[in-house]
Amino acid sequence: MAAQFWPVTENFAAEVGDIDLSRPLGAEDIVAIREAFDRYAVLVFPDQALSTGQHLDFARHFGPLETSIATHRKDTKLRVVAEIADVSNLTENNEVWGENSRQRMFQLGNRLWHSDSTFKLTPAYASLLYARSIPPVGGHTEFADMRAAWEALPEAMKQKIDTLVCEHSIFNSRARLGFTNFSADERAAMPPVPQVMVRTIPQTGRKCLYLASHAGRVIGMEEGEGKALIDELMAHATQRQFVYAHRWRVNDLVIWDNRQTMHRGTPFDDLRWKRDVQRATVEDIANSCAQAGMKVA
Ligand code: OGA
Ligand code: MN
Repeated sequence: MAAQFWPVTENFAAEVGDIDLSRPLGAEDIVAIREAFDRYAVLVFPDQALSTGQHLDFARHFGPLETSIATHRKDTKLRVVAEIADVSNLTENNEVWGENSRQRMFQLGNRLWHSDSTFKLTPAYASLLYARSIPPVGGHTEFADMRAAWEALPEAMKQKIDTLVCEHSIFNSRARLGFTNFSADERAAMPPVPQVMVRTIPQTGRKCLYLASHAGRVIGMEEGEGKALIDELMAHATQRQFVYAHRWRVNDLVIWDNRQTMHRGTPFDDLRWKRDVQRATVEDIANSCAQAGMKVA
């Protein structure tokens, strides 16, 4: 049977049924999924039993994969392969992490609204997060529709921000949490990068806000003024009417378009329950400024 789409709202988030992602997909299913992905920006595939290899194979239908930034870190061994970002609260021995673990501090950044890898010159296009175990309460993931957020802005604000560029860095989002304890090597491995504040999605022609807690400065604007503008737009974009909250079930695979959405994880008792969620991430085709025809320094 062909894949079935069950929209959550008319244009944002849909559940997908009658498809087994552990098997090779037919060309028609791939086209239907990619079209639905452009339209809904968040797709939920319930009840998928996937090996890591099958998870990665499905992700590759959307483009080349990123390797996890954890490979830059010297203080921890990886529990998963380099193409998977380990978003769990588990140590390499599959135990719940300790209260003061550096991994725990680092991952607190996922509680801030963001789009994945905007701190890389080429940011993320699609993220595919797979839940192997989940806590009984809490630990949901929220998604904000950045197209609807753009459309709801007053015309004067649209004109003011349409061609602005922000500087993004992973150290900006960590600094928001008071976490600044990074080595010179870690900082040098991830210098700040430019990203447009408003992007146009080539497949649909729709515009959307493109922001994240990684954004720190608006280029050409006084620092405090730029930060205030970013905070104001983030608060606007994450109002309830633009948000879908995903409550996880074991074996859900959720895929989101980082160009058109922001997301964040919600709290749970992470010292008590195991939450084993793993992410495959597909790169965008180029830096967002380069895609808009701007010169990237
Ligand atoms: C991610 C992420 C949030 C969550 O995987 O990129 O931000 O709820 N996850 O785990
Ligand atoms: Mn994320």
